[in-house]
Amino acid sequence: MTKFLDAIDPAHEPPLKEPERQYYFMAKCREYVQKESERLGRPLFACTTTFGCQMNARDSEKLAGILEAAGYRTTAEEAADFVIYNTCTVRDHANQRIYGRLGRLGSLKKKNPQMKIVLCGCMMQEDAVIEKIRTSYRFVDLVFGTHNIFKFAELLFTMLESGRMVIDIWKATDQIVEELPAERKYPFKSGINIMFGCDNYCSYCIVPFVRGRERSREPEDIIREIRRLVEDGVVEVMLLGQNVNSYGTTLSEPVTFPELLRRIEGIEGLERIRFMTSHPKDLSDELIQVMKDSKKICRHLHLPLQSGSTPILEAMNRHYTKEEYLELARKIRKTMPDIAITTDIIVGFPGETPQDVEETIAVVKEVQFENAFTFIYSKRTGTPAAAMDGQVSKEAVKLSFDRLLKAVQETAKLRAGRLQGKILPVLAEEINEQDDSLLTGRLSNNMIVHFNGGHDLIGKIVAVELKECHGFYYSGVMLQ
Ligand code: SAH
Ligand code: SF4
Ligand code: F3S
Repeated sequence: MTKFLDAIDPAHEPPLKEPERQYYFMAKCREYVQKESERLGRPLFACTTTFGCQMNARDSEKLAGILEAAGYRTTAEEAADFVIYNTCTVRDHANQRIYGRLGRLGSLKKKNPQMKIVLCGCMMQEDAVIEKIRTSYRFVDLVFGTHNIFKFAELLFTMLESGRMVIDIWKATDQIVEELPAERKYPFKSGINIMFGCDNYCSYCIVPFVRGRERSREPEDIIREIRRLVEDGVVEVMLLGQNVNSYGTTLSEPVTFPELLRRIEGIEGLERIRFMTSHPKDLSDELIQVMKDSKKICRHLHLPLQSGSTPILEAMNRHYTKEEYLELARKIRKTMPDIAITTDIIVGFPGETPQDVEETIAVVKEVQFENAFTFIYSKRTGTPAAAMDGQVSKEAVKLSFDRLLKAVQETAKLRAGRLQGKILPVLAEEINEQDDSLLTGRLSNNMIVHFNGGHDLIGKIVAVELKECHGFYYSGVMLQ
């Protein structure tokens, strides 16, 4: 990376082509950071904080990669020279958290006025948010959105040079800029975007409005990126998209998701393939077959249910019925008995009755999800559901939520216990947080296992006997 930047002459005009243009601005930023660090007699530190989903986590790795190329040292400490929040707006709670933390950042900046505060991500695609930042959070230095994140280096330079608040939000983009640096959180596993945006317009969801239209990356570009990662020590990839099952439809030569998986399977040195998220309406028999036949695709499907009541599913614009979901889950379990199915469920969608919640609980009991993320419906301005009648009272939602959670915990426990005594491959991921003589790793089905083992095993797949199930995780013993 440094070598690449050294070859750039920052005195020249910036190139127009991407990503060369961004590398040019990384070199320009590096000059600035070097000077500033000489002036202060110490390195400059940058802290990246991520909210929201795996897409945002991957975007943050790219932001961190660019900051590093610009000469910043990475820190987890928010009292840094440069702080960036990559935001989420999927539920109102996410927004409130960000405003709260931003307030605290403002106090930090009072003590260190040369500190730079930057906001990006999904929340910044909302006009009301930008208005609020403009008026109430004047200490923020740079704001950009999801569509122009690839221009981060350029925006960073504009901000460093101008010394005033820079706001740049695009309404949309059809550009996919490849080959920018990324600073991975784990050396042995990585997320890979296979598509951007979402066209499904579930009636409660803001993602299509803040992430734009669905666009798939070319399969060759995805494969090239994975090959490079594997050369760099990655053994597990997580293919990312809001609805991976519709991958490829926007390509000039359409390629299906199962076909993409087949091609990725062929990459030598790659050991595990995961993906998320799967929309039930687009999950094909071909995908189930490819998963069954694969040695690398993990035995885990995240298959959001959202609701077990057909009329609610219809109002949610999900395009499947309760029966269709159940049939799909049965087919998956039958074809791959060792698979884990996890899900997302929303309670309190407008018009939801206690009877609807009973139906959702019935689906939970029948499918026996290994895990389910349960969310309280959050009204998102601009989505169709926000204008629907029958908003459910807080008290009723709380009752439903508790009933649902109980059902989820019971069935999850039941299924998790089934692996007791088995010897299974585990990818060792990190040193155990409580006891550093232990490692924490993951089964193919995504369950966590704590086991004995040396730190040198991190990033390796080892055989572990699962001794005891503790609800959502196992303790085990590694076989030598
Ligand atoms: N594309 C993915 C999910 C992205 S958002 C999919 O379709 O599954 C992750 C989860 O947040 C969703 O599955 C949904 O359960 C939840 N969610 C989205 N919008 C919400 C809202 N307005 N209120 C509550 N939960 C919501
Ligand atoms: Fe939102 Fe639905 Fe798209 Fe998922 S598929 S991101 S829930 S609109
Ligand atoms: Fe949140 Fe954006 Fe992901 S709204 S859930 S960070 S796509």
